[in-house]
Amino acid sequence: MYKTFTKFYKKICPHSLATKTALLLMVGIGLVEACGLMIHTMDRLNFDRITQEQEAINRATAIYRDISEVDSKDRADEIADLDPIHGFTIFLSSKPDLQKVGPQSAKLEQTITHLLTTILFPPELRPLKIIAAFDKYTLKSAVAFQLPDDKKWLNISYTLLSPNPFKTATFPIAFFVMATATSLITLWGVKRLIAPVGTLAAAAERLGQDVNSPPLPESGPLEVARAARAFNDMAHRINRFINDRTQLLLAIGHDLRTPITRLKLRSEFIDDIHLKNKFIEDLDELEKMINATLAFGRDSAKQEPIITLELTTLLKTLIRELKETHPDKSNTIKLNPYTSKVMIKARPINLKRALQNLMENALYYAGNVTVTLRIDYTHPTKINHNKRILIFIEDDGPGLDEQYLNYVFEPFVRMETSRNRATGGTGLGLSITKSILRGQGGDVILENRHTGGLRAKVILPN
Ligand SMILES: Nc1ncnc2c1ncn2[C@@H]1O[C@H](COP(=O)(O)OP(=O)(O)OP(=O)(O)O)[C@@H](O)[C@H]1O
Ligand SMILES: [Mg+2]
Repeated sequence: MYKTFTKFYKKICPHSLATKTALLLMVGIGLVEACGLMIHTMDRLNFDRITQEQEAINRATAIYRDISEVDSKDRADEIADLDPIHGFTIFLSSKPDLQKVGPQSAKLEQTITHLLTTILFPPELRPLKIIAAFDKYTLKSAVAFQLPDDKKWLNISYTLLSPNPFKTATFPIAFFVMATATSLITLWGVKRLIAPVGTLAAAAERLGQDVNSPPLPESGPLEVARAARAFNDMAHRINRFINDRTQLLLAIGHDLRTPITRLKLRSEFIDDIHLKNKFIEDLDELEKMINATLAFGRDSAKQEPIITLELTTLLKTLIRELKETHPDKSNTIKLNPYTSKVMIKARPINLKRALQNLMENALYYAGNVTVTLRIDYTHPTKINHNKRILIFIEDDGPGLDEQYLNYVFEPFVRMETSRNRATGGTGLGLSITKSILRGQGGDVILENRHTGGLRAKVILPN
């Protein structure tokens, strides 16, 4: 039961901070408005009631005066002749008859007595006695006046109208107008106030894809400006850290070249020809590794700008180029068709290089490659309606031992089977690929296929 409720609540509960805040404010303001209007209405109803009561008392007194002025024997006719007054019952009796209206009200008696003594009323016509009753639930009142001459009782009863705040449309209209006006103002205000949070989130997202993304404006309310400043500082530090590391890599690579050249020259003096060749082979390999490192370092220092590009076209170009460079394997290079266009933000040359590394690996270690593009809508970030773009680069080769699936991403790591450096690469391909993809907010994962072979799963942000 509780679980069903939480599920339901999660489903209907708004997710954005702006909607949540606006809703909370609107409910709060709505309640305050309703209370204010209620107090005002109750006050007005009270006033209406007092006026109504006073009017009824005045009328009852006037009737008594009319009747008391008439000769005692004509009174019954006079009562019959009175214009019928809505809600008033008037009759004579020898005993007071309050028509079962209870309880007796001393207050009402006093008010009427006071009225009769204060207004210009002939003292000889004043009633000998006044008995009054009032029922606050039915709002019925009854007054019995004892006439001074024949001692008979004049009984008057009436019912006050029950107050109804909805009698006129004022209350609902006022509530509706006030609620709409405040809701609009609240929505507008909250949207404006919360907007910087969205900007900050977008900036954080951008930073994840591009460390060189432009800084946030450090303006707006105090806290927002402070957060923006802190964010910019952080982005700047990350950027500097990455640049420092790249420069260090380049410097080391560069400085290693001189001793290698010196070693190569010195190797010429080795007499043992076999040893000399091995020496030169190792130095060549070392040079190759350094050159690859330097090339990667220079590329990442350059920082290609991020642009919007169409992914299926890029994949088609890549496949075409791969077929051109490997005409002997052209039949085993496949691209599964994807009909619609997929626009992404990326660094085109870098992305191309990352995908090319993976495709060439498949071709080199398995002799075939199949590329598939897929859009994944089921990612946990579906709250933001973000979708992920997946590119599968699959082969039918030997695959990799489970324990090495992550290890091969380390720089210069090559597996036993491909130890032959003369034919193989440097072991930097996968490290570069991962670094490029992560630098654009994406990633790459290696997994063995059930049917054999390796699958490289490239994840790109939308
Ligand atoms: N599709 C694949 N099938 C089997 N093994 C693979 C595959 N792709 C990569 N590997 C293994 O992972 C290792 C690392 O690959 P990586 O691309 O980083 O380096 P490399 O291909 O050896 O050299 P290069 O720097 O020229 O790319 C490879 O040496 C290979 O053993
Ligand atoms: Mg490779």
